Amino acid sequence: MPATRSSKAAQTDSRRPLLPAPTANIIPCRIAGSGKLARALARAISENEHNGGGLRLSGIFARNETAAAAIARNTGAPKYGQITDIRQLEGLLLICVSDDALPAVARQLAGMPAAGGALVAHLSGALDLSPLASLQQRGIATGSFHPLQSFPEGAGPETFRGIYASLLGPPEATAQLHRLAAELGCTPLVVSAQQKKQLHIAAVFASNYMVALAHLAGRSVPGLALPVTEVLRPLMETTLQNIFAKGTTAALTGPVSRGDTGTVQTHLRTLTADPFLQDDTLPAAYRLLGRVAASQALSDGRLSPETYRELLTLLSEPHGSAG
Ligand SMILES: NC(=O)c1ccc[n+]([C@@H]2O[C@H](COP(=O)([O-])OP(=O)(O)OC[C@H]3O[C@@H](n4cnc5c(N)ncnc54)[C@H](OP(=O)(O)O)[C@@H]3O)[C@@H](O)[C@H]2O)c1
Repeated sequence: MPATRSSKAAQTDSRRPLLPAPTANIIPCRIAGSGKLARALARAISENEHNGGGLRLSGIFARNETAAAAIARNTGAPKYGQITDIRQLEGLLLICVSDDALPAVARQLAGMPAAGGALVAHLSGALDLSPLASLQQRGIATGSFHPLQSFPEGAGPETFRGIYASLLGPPEATAQLHRLAAELGCTPLVVSAQQKKQLHIAAVFASNYMVALAHLAGRSVPGLALPVTEVLRPLMETTLQNIFAKGTTAALTGPVSRGDTGTVQTHLRTLTADPFLQDDTLPAAYRLLGRVAASQALSDGRLSPETYRELLTLLSEPHGSAG
């Protein structure tokens, strides 16, 4: 049975008596999952509710009931329990579980009765609505709400503000998810299934691979007295500012964009010959990203076609390399 605040989660009562009575305009939200995003989302919905916004946090459900109880305690959610304790689909159910677990969780939910207007949405960045097929087969509305943001451990409600959230689903689903986005302070962006996949790849480049690049930069100078990323921090921050102020091509500087083939040759020799840099990924990444930078510089006329070809030859994978 789901626990209610009058039983297991009663200690959270102090925050709720101040609330206005729910009205037809308020979206009752339940969350399935207890991971990083589930916790941040629960806090954001709870904050919206306590500020008199249009959302109401009505329950937290997860396979780990203890974790669900902790979130309910911290946010004032009136109910918590295991996912099977949801029992009836109503209002908005936001599924925040690992991508691979989505079909199984959807099948569990599809066995439950559904009230009119119930909407089940997942928050995965990578997936379309196919993991929710078992719900669709029962005529239950489904959608996806993907906040284009990184939610590390401890992320709070502010993490949602000022970001974009991609919405996928039929118009009746995206209309409700549009309201969720607005209440959380996100800008909604309705996308097709194909655009959603592409947007997720773009997010991997912009976030995960940017971190990987910073990591590679750090490994390029072993043995420095200070962390290399700290030394490079002003450069990295100014570069990011330039990307947003000028665009990705105009923000590009450096030897490739200037056609300094001699410097590129020296870099490659250092990367491949230095006994301290015993890491094949460094020259491979340098060559690959150098080719991208060269085509950018060609596209805005900073490189002549001849210099571009010379750079491509220099930056091509060595003979016999798997790439
Ligand atoms: N974190 C982010 O930055 C971020 C950003 C945008 C979107 N998302 C999306 O949010 C979703 C969750 O990501 P997260 O970062 O919050 O992951 P997480 O912290 O690893 O949490 C994963 C959650 O899924 C639950 N889970 C895993 N397998 C399950 C199963 N078979 N049945 C029921 N629950 C299961 C876990 O339960 P246990 O605790 O019991 O293992 C945990 O509550 C993913 O779809 C991800 O794409 C995350």
